[in-house]
Amino acid sequence: MKITVYGAGPIGLTTSIGLCQFGHEVLCIDIDQEKVIRLQENDLPFYEPGLNSLLEKFLKNKMLKFSSKPQHGLENSVHFIAIGTPNKDGIPQIGPIEQLTRHIFENSHNSIIFIKSTVPPGTSERLKKLSNANAQIISHPEFLREGTALADFLNPERLVFGGENLDLNYLTSIYTNIAKDKFLLMSHSEAELSKYLANAYLAQRVSFINQAALLCENFSADIVSVKKVLASDTRIGEQFLNAGLGFGGSCFPKDLVALNHFSRTHGVNLHLVQSTIKANHEQIQQFAKKIESYFLSKKLQKKISIWGLSFKPNTDDLRESPSLKLINELLALKYQIQVHDPVAKEAFLNLYADQRNITLHDNPINALQDSNALILATAWENYKEIPLAFMLKKLSHPALFDGRNFFNKEEALKLGFHYVGVGR
Ligand code: UGA
Repeated sequence: MKITVYGAGPIGLTTSIGLCQFGHEVLCIDIDQEKVIRLQENDLPFYEPGLNSLLEKFLKNKMLKFSSKPQHGLENSVHFIAIGTPNKDGIPQIGPIEQLTRHIFENSHNSIIFIKSTVPPGTSERLKKLSNANAQIISHPEFLREGTALADFLNPERLVFGGENLDLNYLTSIYTNIAKDKFLLMSHSEAELSKYLANAYLAQRVSFINQAALLCENFSADIVSVKKVLASDTRIGEQFLNAGLGFGGSCFPKDLVALNHFSRTHGVNLHLVQSTIKANHEQIQQFAKKIESYFLSKKLQKKISIWGLSFKPNTDDLRESPSLKLINELLALKYQIQVHDPVAKEAFLNLYADQRNITLHDNPINALQDSNALILATAWENYKEIPLAFMLKKLSHPALFDGRNFFNKEEALKLGFHYVGVGR
């Protein structure tokens, strides 16, 4: 099959490469010319494990091509739209998707358009009205996670399709090798809503465990022990119950605000979603307060180190990163900050180039020099390779603020660290 994918962000590019892996020829279109040139030259514009080698392979065998011109996409009759839907005043901007859909329908007959972008319920019904009789819109939300995007695409837990007269045989010919019971067929609104509600539920679990952590701190309890009890109940399960600095990224924060907004306009007040957003916001402020009160009580010079900048490990995505939110709080409190991240260096420099109170280091150890505390903000596994005893020697003062409950607390205390985690 020949397929056009619109958007070369984490979802669009993973979809393009994943579809090639399923045996299709793909033309990936992005209006960012610079990005397209980089991709044509086999230069991945962001960090996503596993994509590099397949990008090279499919460029070489010409299964994958790139273009910055939407009209080139009309060569094919199957289209996947995976462009961003950023919020404006809480409302997802679907104008560009509408334009693209109109463009496809006006210029090619018999086209099938899969909507991968996250769009509010009702969007596909609206898009359908732009179509001629032979064209089809299929809501097809994506559930992959950054950092494991390719593996999630190739091995999905479910594939959701919304629309009328959906042909399962046709859909399985796109996702070859995926078991039929993974294909969930439903209405447009059901598919569109599922995406928002899945993200809202996961985000709610994170805010729940963070609130539970707050409670633990007041009763000298350790959230890590409490989590073990919750997680061992199969009705609860263990995922998305790690207390920390809260959730970030390009999806949860944006989707929760949008969900809250369109629910309200339909007269439904989603209290849990509102509380999830509020708790997530407060999580950073509480952690910053702990740091500030410790520094004031010990009369320490405000020199601090932060390990981890991306919103979670295995990505260089800084969007809505809790680490950056914490950095902004600390800058406002006049801290001098030394930072390190294994991959998010370039993106960070673009954002903080003019900030004189921040030094970016290539090496995590160098970032500890002359510093009175280390904050672990993103749980990159490779930080575990550095022994706590070695970190202690490098720091000017033995304070460890563990924003992801990442280090061994007992070992840190034994070594003489002042250890502060989340809910322990
Ligand atoms: C999320 C969803 O998990 C995907 O299913 C969805 O497809 C995607 O959004 C999207 O809508 O496109 P992603 O944004 O890549 O994926 O990140 P997650 O792995 O879900 O993590 C979100 C945030 O929650 C991160 O900041 C992470 O550190 C935080 N988190 C997660 C916690 O603080 N604690 C946990 O226990 C789990």
